Amino acid sequence: MRIGVPKEIKNNESRVALTPHGALELVNQGHEILVQKSAGIESGFTDETYSDVGCRLIDTAKEVFDNVEMIVKVKEPQPVEIEMCRPDLTMFTYFHFAAEEKLTRDFLATGATAIAYETIMTDDGKLPLLIPMSEVAGRMATQEGAKYLERPFGGKGILLGGVPGVKPATVTVLGGGVVGTNAAKIAAGFGAKVYILDNNLDRLRYLDDVMPRNVRTLYSNQYNLMELLPITDLLIGAVLIVGAKAPKLVTRDMLKLMKPRSAIVDVSVDQGGCIETCKPTTHEHPTFEVDGVIHYCVANMPGAVPFTSTVALTNATAPYMQKLANKGVLEALNSDPSLLLGLNTYRKQITHLGVAEAFGMDYVDPATAISG
Ligand SMILES: NC(=O)c1ccc[n+]([C@@H]2O[C@H](COP(=O)([O-])OP(=O)(O)OC[C@H]3O[C@@H](n4cnc5c(N)ncnc54)[C@H](O)[C@@H]3O)[C@@H](O)[C@H]2O)c1
Repeated sequence: MRIGVPKEIKNNESRVALTPHGALELVNQGHEILVQKSAGIESGFTDETYSDVGCRLIDTAKEVFDNVEMIVKVKEPQPVEIEMCRPDLTMFTYFHFAAEEKLTRDFLATGATAIAYETIMTDDGKLPLLIPMSEVAGRMATQEGAKYLERPFGGKGILLGGVPGVKPATVTVLGGGVVGTNAAKIAAGFGAKVYILDNNLDRLRYLDDVMPRNVRTLYSNQYNLMELLPITDLLIGAVLIVGAKAPKLVTRDMLKLMKPRSAIVDVSVDQGGCIETCKPTTHEHPTFEVDGVIHYCVANMPGAVPFTSTVALTNATAPYMQKLANKGVLEALNSDPSLLLGLNTYRKQITHLGVAEAFGMDYVDPATAISG
C-alpha cells in the first residue's frame, strides 16, 4: 500500500503520525511511504532519518494526498486537508467528530473513509490509542504542578519531595484511571505525600496493592475532598465519565478551602474539567489564578513533549497501520472488531453511533456499511 504522512498543520501541533522506526517496519513489509518534507522535525526526526529507512520525501501535502491510498495523521483534518480528500482515500487519525459538527459534515461530504484512533476499542473496553496520551498527560501533570509550586512561577515555594527534616508536598489526585495513576506514580517517586480519590472501589483496591506506601487511596466523595483541600499543595484533576462531561468535584466555593499559591492541574479540562473554576488554556498562556490558586488547564498537554508523545502514539498505532496496509482497509476492518469500531465514516455514511447521535444524523452499522 502507498501510505502518506503529511506535516501536521493544526496550531501548536508538533507530533507526526509515523516515526522512522514505524516506517521501516512498513517498508520491510513491502509498503511505500511518502513523507512530506520536515514532517518529523519538531518531534526530533530529520528528513534524512526517513529517507534512510526507504521513505520518499515529498515537497507538498497535496502531492502526498494525491499519490497515496491511506493518509496517517495525528490531529483531525484541517479545512485545506479536507479539500484534498477523495472517496478512495482512507484517513487514520484522531478525528473527535462528535465534538465538531462542521468537521463531521465536511469530511463526510468528501466520501473518504475515516478510521478514528479514539474510537478503536479492545474486547475489554479499553481505548488503546487514547491510553498513551493519557500516560503522557498524567506524568506531565505532576511535572507541571511541581514547577508551578516553585516561587518564580507564582507557587508556594514547596519542593514536592521535601528534604530530610522538612515535610514533602501533599498531592491530591482526583480519578485513579490512566492519567491519575501516572500522575500519582510520578508524585510518589518524587517523595510527595499522595492521595488518590476514585469512586470505583475495585480500582482503589488495585491502586492500594500496586502503589508505594506514600500513596493513600480514598473513596471520592465531597466529605473526603473537603478534608483534603486545605492541606493539598497540588491538586490534579483526572476524572472521566465516558461519553459525558466531567463532574465538578471541586465547586467554586470549595476552592476557597485551598491555600493561596497552591496549584491545580486539571487534565480533564478537555471534557469540561472536574474543578469548576477551570477553563481551557494553551501552552503559550498555560495558567491563570482564582483566589490566589494557580490553575494549569492546557487541553493538549502531550503537544509540549512531541518526542515522547509521537513515539508513544506510534507504538500504539503501528500494529493497526500494519494490519490496514497488509490486508487492505476492507479486509482489515472485516477481520478485526476493535479496528471496525474505529470506522467513523464510509462512503458518505456515518458508521459510529455516538457521532450520528451527536448531530441527529443517520447511522449505518459499520459491518453493514462495508459489506454493501
Ligand atoms: N489535557 C490533556 O492534554 C489530556 C490528555 C490525555 C487525557 N486527558 C483527559 O484526562 C481525563 C482522564 O483520562 P483517563 O485516560 O485517565 O481516563 P480513565 O477512564 O482511565 O480514568 C478516569 C477515572 O475517573 C474515575 N472517576 C469517575 N468518576 C469519578 C468521581 N466522581 N470521582 C473520582 N473518580 C471518578 C473513574 O473511575 C476512572 O478511574 C479524560 O478527560 C481525558 O480526556 C486530557
